[in-house]
Amino acid sequence: MNMDEVKSALDEKLKSIKTTKELEALKLEYLGKKGVLNQIFSKMTGLSPDERKEYGAKANLLKRELEEMISEYAERINNYRPSEYEDLYKSLPGKKPDIGHIHIITQAIREIVDIFVPLGFTRVRYPEVEWEYFAFEALNMPETHPARDDWETFFIDVPADKKLGKMVLTPHTSSGQVREMLKGKPPIRMLNISRCGRRQMDVSHAPSFYQFEGLVVDEGINTTHLIGVLDYFAKNFFGPDRKIRIRPYDFRFTEPSFEVDIDCGICHGKGCKVCKGGWLELGGAGMVHPYVLTSGGVDSEKYSGFAFGWGVERTYMMKTGTQIDDIRYLFANDLRFLEQF
Ligand code: DAH
Repeated sequence: MNMDEVKSALDEKLKSIKTTKELEALKLEYLGKKGVLNQIFSKMTGLSPDERKEYGAKANLLKRELEEMISEYAERINNYRPSEYEDLYKSLPGKKPDIGHIHIITQAIREIVDIFVPLGFTRVRYPEVEWEYFAFEALNMPETHPARDDWETFFIDVPADKKLGKMVLTPHTSSGQVREMLKGKPPIRMLNISRCGRRQMDVSHAPSFYQFEGLVVDEGINTTHLIGVLDYFAKNFFGPDRKIRIRPYDFRFTEPSFEVDIDCGICHGKGCKVCKGGWLELGGAGMVHPYVLTSGGVDSEKYSGFAFGWGVERTYMMKTGTQIDDIRYLFANDLRFLEQF
């Protein structure tokens, strides 16, 4: 092959090259040790000095040209796009990264805080791992009392404390009541929101969930204050046309104790398919038991108080329009669900 033929042959071969790997093989074929170019150089040995000078200059020029052709083509392969997509690439907008948002439980917690803080409540947090004493004994629920079964407690596998009992996953935010009273003298306006744990799992119960607990202790606090605050909360959280009602109930740490209901957002108390009886159960409340005030070092002759403790998720699910029929969706971290809120 003479020198001119070498160039046009390489040019022809380059046209069919699609990948860097193919190009590397071709480079070896032409510029490698046993390649075409070295064969050309090897022919110099049989030539006279003058011929050699001329031939060598030509061969060196050819070497540069071949190298250039190959590196130019390498660049083209690196920028390679299948031609049918060329227009598409230019006009397509870039792929936007997904941007998350605040989880609905946090949204609900923020909404609850925003309603209670203007009333003078202070948001607090108490440990998610608690002593039996604050969770039960201090709240008038002695160890042998059967009501303690209702709290379906998770016990932590560590040695018990002589005074405070076993360590548990906080079964309810009521455990913050006595901690708060021991922190300072009345007046107290506490909003304790925390994660709680109980051995339970069905459409309306999760083993890990959140509660918000209100506690007000001052001179002259009575049931009307409790009803006023809860009604204010319900109107602000659920809508101005909603009403609450209270029913007698039994909790060891309140006397009297109530269950608080809200009228169904669909039928407003008449009764419909969704609510059945017209009312939906929100949670417990009551006037703080003197035993609990005493546990907190508060003079129960001088002071009285009210308290309430409701599930954050359960309360949020009762908002009209949320249509969440299984509490466990809130913890499943499925983006198809979460992105709707
Ligand atoms: N701690 C109770 C529970 O988890 C709820 C509760 C009822 C809280 C009455 C209160 C209350 O503060 O007064 O079931």
